[in-house]
Amino acid sequence: MLTLIEQLGIGTADLAAAFLFLYGLHRMSSPVTAPSGIFVAGIGMAVAVLASFLYAFGVGTAARSNLPVNIGLAVVALGLGGGAAWWSGRQVAMTAMPQMVAIYNGMGGGAAGAIAAVELFGIKAQGKTELIVTLLGALIGAVSLSGSLIAWAKLDGVINKPFRVKGQQAFNALVMLATVAVGAYIVVASADKAVLVLAMPTTIYLFFGCALALGILMTLPIGGADMPVVISIFNAFTGLAVGLEGYVLQNPALMIAGMVVGAAGMLLTLLMAKAMNRSVSNVVFTNFGEVAKHKQGKIKGSLKPMQPGDAGIAMRYAASVIIVPGYGLAVSQGQGKLFEFVKLLQAGGVLVKFAIHPVAGRMPGQMDVLLAEAGVPYDLIVQLEDINDQFASTDVALVIGANDVVNPAARTDKSSAIYGMPILNADQAKKVFVIKRGEGKGYAGIVNALFYADNCDMVYGDAQTVLIKMIEAVRGLNLPAVA
Ligand code: TAP
Repeated sequence: MLTLIEQLGIGTADLAAAFLFLYGLHRMSSPVTAPSGIFVAGIGMAVAVLASFLYAFGVGTAARSNLPVNIGLAVVALGLGGGAAWWSGRQVAMTAMPQMVAIYNGMGGGAAGAIAAVELFGIKAQGKTELIVTLLGALIGAVSLSGSLIAWAKLDGVINKPFRVKGQQAFNALVMLATVAVGAYIVVASADKAVLVLAMPTTIYLFFGCALALGILMTLPIGGADMPVVISIFNAFTGLAVGLEGYVLQNPALMIAGMVVGAAGMLLTLLMAKAMNRSVSNVVFTNFGEVAKHKQGKIKGSLKPMQPGDAGIAMRYAASVIIVPGYGLAVSQGQGKLFEFVKLLQAGGVLVKFAIHPVAGRMPGQMDVLLAEAGVPYDLIVQLEDINDQFASTDVALVIGANDVVNPAARTDKSSAIYGMPILNADQAKKVFVIKRGEGKGYAGIVNALFYADNCDMVYGDAQTVLIKMIEAVRGLNLPAVA
């Protein structure tokens, strides 16, 4: 049994971990403090792990013999998991981040499901309430695990087509009902006695099987491009599952961390959906890109190609430039060259700002992280609502690998799939230069009328390559810096 001092020590460590999670999350709200926020939350996790070990050491041999704790195995698992995470975290490319988040999120859901399995097959889920909470956590955790793995496979191109059959949603609803029915059977049959739960291993396996199948079936029909929103939903699920299992284990750190992750995931999902002017059910139940393609009308104007050097020099002589980065900048990894080009413009007295759309790229905050990585000062980075009025008085809007987030159809074309989505008013600048490789569409799969507008020129090529040519052209002018 735990002594009072041990209990106090573990309780304090749990609370400290919970505090560090919350404080870390608070610091993640700004790009300036986000790196330290991640560090603080990491320390919180280390404290929580330490508390778990203290608990396992302190429970005494008599009590420990009942517990499914193998400290040696736990240390090996920690070493392997921590090592793999450290290695993959260092290797991962910026554009592959969503996949990585999907995998790690799936691990969280799986961990919650595993705790639930230990509860069910072990000794802990004793009362009816505890049993229901355990089963709920198991269901949500298992759905999050299998769903996140499918999301990873789609983002990584392992599965490259949405899988849809007639009556799929009705079938999914049936699987959902079957899972709930098996769970309800476990609760009723156990009649408050966990020992009876132990006598139903096949039923428990069936319950987990149905829950895992549900996660797969729910995610298979959703288009790959919608996966970031889906991952955010599963993230909320994982948090909820962890929080529920924390309740069963009576572990405050797990409860608080789980609820914080659950709430943050749900808020993020809603924010992403709002920024795309879509409902969460629209994301989950429709095939966005394909629907959009069929509704496209004819576009007036023509595409006017321009050489990178000419565009670069024109910007060097402009008074103000607003840069709109998008997914293509992340693909080309041109952020370093972009900042080099910006410094050249600034040296010539050009006023430069970056305009950030909340869903530019493929994951929340991707553009902020990309620019921070290149060392762009935060005071140059302005969010949509604060910069949109400034385009009309700006000489040049430089759109780099962005498409949907500057598509004026969102304002004007009621039949467009993105109608109502807030966009950056790049089209209102006196001149627009767009860097992209060709006539590739954006995520929504629609043609962008901005590219055909009279005030717009297309600078074709990979963003990084184009930026290198722009830098060379401006340097070639040999102009003195403006004080
Ligand atoms: P997109 O609309 O996806 O357009 C990206 C453009 O970049 C493409 O048209 C492509 O044209 C170009 N491109 C690709 N690789 C390039 C390269 N190496 N160099 C230069 N250009 C390149 O991007 P966006 O404007 O950032 O919009 C984001 C979209 O994703 C929105 O529709 C948003 O709703 C959606 N979305 C975002 C999120 C989050 S959270 N950010 C989540 C889910 C969905 P070319 O092929 O012709 O080069």
